Amino acid sequence: MKLSLPDRIQHRLSRVSYRVDGLESPVPEIEALISRGLVAGGKRVRPLLSLLIADWIALDEAKSLKIARAVELVHAASLAHDDVIDESDLRRRKPTLRRLSSNSRAVLAGDLLLSRTLREVSELDNLELVKSLARSAEMLVYGEWLQQELIGEIDVSESQLSAVHHKKTGSLMEWACTAPLQILELSNVSFPRDDFSHGLKEIGRLVGAAFQIIDDVVDFSTESEKPFAQDLREGLVNSVTLRILSKNPSLKASLSRCLGVEAPAQGYPWSHDELAYAITESRSQAAAQIFAAGRVLEELHALHPIPPDVRLAFESLFEVLKGRKK
Ligand code: FPP
Ligand code: MG
Repeated sequence: MKLSLPDRIQHRLSRVSYRVDGLESPVPEIEALISRGLVAGGKRVRPLLSLLIADWIALDEAKSLKIARAVELVHAASLAHDDVIDESDLRRRKPTLRRLSSNSRAVLAGDLLLSRTLREVSELDNLELVKSLARSAEMLVYGEWLQQELIGEIDVSESQLSAVHHKKTGSLMEWACTAPLQILELSNVSFPRDDFSHGLKEIGRLVGAAFQIIDDVVDFSTESEKPFAQDLREGLVNSVTLRILSKNPSLKASLSRCLGVEAPAQGYPWSHDELAYAITESRSQAAAQIFAAGRVLEELHALHPIPPDVRLAFESLFEVLKGRKK
């Protein structure tokens, strides 16, 4: 399924760059590493959310792009670190920063991405915006930490998983959705700001939850760029394996033996039908979150009309997110 966007949004999205170069840089090698490793840039869901919302509330283009860039850079920083933690050599079918250089340099590249973002966002002179971004970056850390605690655990609950999802993915999506309004001049706000902001945050939370559940589904896709059941190889029960277990608790012992194992000698313990069922259930759970996000969007439309082409772009994004296979 192809994402369909208005030309102006597509154009803005293509201008969201990872470049962190600057004339004053004493270590151009870090910037070169970042450009080499991140240029082709992934799905860009986070900056797209910011750009769509910014367009909806008529935030000026320069500020819109700054928000979109900030959210993508923080995301990139977290991925640079995540690949070190996970010891991953490939991301987006390309060598990870740590593969291109070393773990220590990849960590520093992530640090540079994060600190540069904070500098750029602070230059917008909006303390609340800096605070909310820093808070969201903190949440990413908590989410990743909590996920680490679940490694090797077979007794994982739905609420533990959704707490991890919310922190490591939802929090930045929430920022992507609320930041454009946070920086909009009060004199340009002709609708109930707090209600609108609350709704935007809710959209970010719901899209983040759906995104992460689909990620867990894609983990079992043969079309994915990652190995089959990578989460399990890393020792993690994800939304899909959780569903397999809740449907058939007798698999607990055998599934537990697969945690952290590259390729279990006996194969995976579930049947084809059990996996298919868990995938269908997870996809419908994600679809329900996306549906709920759509409902919030309609509520916000009643407060402040959404331009028809932005609404279509949201619908297209929602379809792409639901149908994602890799
Ligand atoms: C990818 O998810 C990872 C994240 C969304 C967040 C990782 C966060 C950290 C490493 C904390 C550091 C935070 C900052 C601000 C620098 P995933 O592992 O589920 O997806 P993947 O399979 O693509 O790696
Ligand atoms: Mg990871």
